[in-house]
This record gives sequence, structure tokens and C-alpha cells, in this order.
Amino acid sequence: MKIVALQGSPRKKGNTAKVLSWVEEELVAMGHDVESIFLNTKNLKGCLACGKCKEKPDSVGCIQKDDIPEILEKMTSAELVIFASPLYFWGLSAQLKTVIDRTYSLYVDYHQPGHASLVDGQRQALLVTGAGPFENNAEAAFTAFGRMQKPHKTVNAGELFIGSCSTPDKLDDQIKDKAVAFAHKIIG
Ligand SMILES: Cc1cc2nc3c(=O)[nH]c(=O)nc-3n(C[C@H](O)[C@H](O)[C@H](O)COP(=O)(O)O)c2cc1C
Repeated sequence: MKIVALQGSPRKKGNTAKVLSWVEEELVAMGHDVESIFLNTKNLKGCLACGKCKEKPDSVGCIQKDDIPEILEKMTSAELVIFASPLYFWGLSAQLKTVIDRTYSLYVDYHQPGHASLVDGQRQALLVTGAGPFENNAEAAFTAFGRMQKPHKTVNAGELFIGSCSTPDKLDDQIKDKAVAFAHKIIG
């Protein structure tokens, strides 16, 4: 399976990176083709809401000249996309949110009969790490992700929240087991 992972933490060796690396290692061990994209070193501009992308329903069609059109192209050719992020102020990181906003260019006619998406039927998974618990903390990030999948017309492949994170060296074997189980779940 062709898999793209969007690593949305600015910390290359942080908690999100470590949990995601366990997921990716397991996916590779199962024979999958995984491309991990570290968003923080990419040129990422916010959506302009210009609507030009809607004039080209058969392609990404975004007019901005940054690194996101290439990332979106990779996403459209993947069978599974993993969205990974630390929890920042009860939401996803700015890096990942910026890419998500730009997925506005992946679909047309949401809520209308002609609703079509370049990622129709794709599996998408969400992995989030945070310092606090899930309850009264991480819900909104997962709710927003699920709502994003409606215009995308995608399949929720799985969701994993790793709470009570401090430093990456404290992420233990129990968490690694959750990451490995998550890898098996998300491929379906
Ligand atoms: C700007 C900022 C906002 C944060 N907001 C939250 C939050 O709302 N809830 C939470 O549980 N943790 C919060 N944290 C903690 C991080 O989510 C947590 O340490 C995470 O594991 C960091 O991931 P990383 O090591 O991949 O960067 C925040 C951290 C930062 C820097």
C-alpha cells in the first residue's frame, strides 16, 4: 500500500516523531511503501480562499507557489494518509492545519449533487500526542478531523491519542505496542 505520513510537529525528535516512527517502522516491516513528510521544513502558506482551485475539479489546481501543491499531489496518489501532530491549544499544529486548509483544493461541490473529491475513498488516520489527557482536552482536534473527512469523502482508518507525554525518552513499550497496533489497524 502506498502511504504518506504528514509529520506536523516542529520537533524532529519529539514525541509525535517518535510514536510516528514506530508506526512507520511497522508499516515498512509489513511491506508497505511509506513516505514521511516533515512539514516544518517546508514552505507552507495559508489558504487564500480565492476559490481558483474550484475551477479545476480534476486536479489540485491551487495557484500558490509553495511546497503544498506537491504535498497535495503526493496525498492524492496515496491509499492511506497519516496525519500526525502534537496537540497545540486543543487543536492540531499550525504546520498540519495549514496543509489541511489547503486540502480545500481537493474537492468540489460539497453539500451539492456534484460533490467530488480527488481523495474519494482514501483511508486517512490521525495520530496526536499531548501533555494532558484525552478528556476535556483533545476531543476538538479529533472532531475536526472527522468533519474534514466529509468533504474529502474519505474513510476513517483509525485514530490514536497518546496523552501524558513529557519527553520522548519516557515513551515506553506500552506506547510502542499501541503504535504497532495502530499500524495494523489503519491499513484495514
Ligand atoms: C504551543 C503549545 C501548545 C500546547 N497545547 C497543548 C494542549 O492544548 N493540550 C495538551 O495536552 N498538550 C499541549 N501541549 C503539549 C504538547 O502537545 C505535547 O508536549 C506534545 O507531545 C509535543 O509533541 P512533540 O514533542 O512532537 O512536539 C502544547 C505544547 C505547546 C508547545
